[in-house]
Amino acid sequence: MGKLDGRVAVVTGAGQGIGAEVARTFAAEGACVVVNDLGASLDGSDNEGTPAEEVTREIVAVGGKAAANNCDVTDHAAVKNLIGQAIDEFGKLDIVVNVAGILRDGMIFKMEEKQWDAVIAVHLKGTFNTIRHASEYWRGHRGGEYRIINFISGSGLWGAPAQPNYAAAKMGIVGLSNSCASALNGYGVTSNCIAPVAFTRMTAALEGKSTVMNYSASNEKISTRNVVPPVVWLAAEESAWMNGRIIQCGNGRIGLINEPAVEREVTTQGVWDLDVAFEEMNTAFKEAVVYPNPFRKPQG
Ligand SMILES: NC(=O)c1ccc[n+]([C@@H]2O[C@H](COP(=O)([O-])OP(=O)(O)OC[C@H]3O[C@@H](n4cnc5c(N)ncnc54)[C@H](O)[C@@H]3O)[C@@H](O)[C@H]2O)c1
Repeated sequence: MGKLDGRVAVVTGAGQGIGAEVARTFAAEGACVVVNDLGASLDGSDNEGTPAEEVTREIVAVGGKAAANNCDVTDHAAVKNLIGQAIDEFGKLDIVVNVAGILRDGMIFKMEEKQWDAVIAVHLKGTFNTIRHASEYWRGHRGGEYRIINFISGSGLWGAPAQPNYAAAKMGIVGLSNSCASALNGYGVTSNCIAPVAFTRMTAALEGKSTVMNYSASNEKISTRNVVPPVVWLAAEESAWMNGRIIQCGNGRIGLINEPAVEREVTTQGVWDLDVAFEEMNTAFKEAVVYPNPFRKPQG
């Protein structure tokens, strides 16, 4: 028995990298999968090949159920058809996994408008597009165990310096995901995020350069296969109680990120005197800001 028997999923960006691994594992666990991928180059400026068809053929060749879709996730109307394709071909839709992504890195003071717009469009608008259309279907078909699983990044959680567009898009997805967790739970939907790490074309440039992780094709621990377990778990019915959270995974680890919480607080009974507020914040907050952020110098 598979962990996703009888379930139907749409996985965007499933033509290679993490998305392909998710699609293959979902199918191996009994799900019917619509494999979406535009075949975009890493920066999204060109289209290369037909990776959605290739992954679909691979799945079908080993007895799985899959259908290919080549739409651009930034195209609102085309994504409506993507959601419709799952329902037409497999009879329903249970799971949407938003993996599609591109990179156009640059420091904020050099970033061009089109670098910003392209990255926001694929990640943030693309994620909105699938959720928008899927949630309309779920609202009309209550009683299911529906799942939204959104790929985000440590780049946004901790602030990668040369990725302001990507970091902003990913944290925009966190807000979107949290809003959906609140809005859609009454319709049987959970909405969670995955912050992965894996060796793919997106991280290939870090090979031999990272002091934190051994990015290399020969390091099995950082393979895309180590991202998949929490994605399958979130997609399965048994994780119904998990909603509105972020799971960080990859490199052999699966971690639950904490909820936003007030870490330190200073209070006044009346209206703050500016000097008093400065002094209290300097004292109370400084000791709270000492934990290491991988992208920043230690605080003084
Ligand atoms: N690899 C990592 O370590 C890492 C770390 C943090 C976050 N992520 C995120 O995980 C996800 C998968 O990353 P990956 O490393 O597998 O990347 P990848 O480049 O290997 O795969 C991304 C896929 O998305 C597709 N895609 C791009 N634009 C599209 C569009 N407009 N419509 C449809 N498909 C489109 C591409 O064709 C590609 O197949 C991304 O959202 C990425 O931002 C990855």
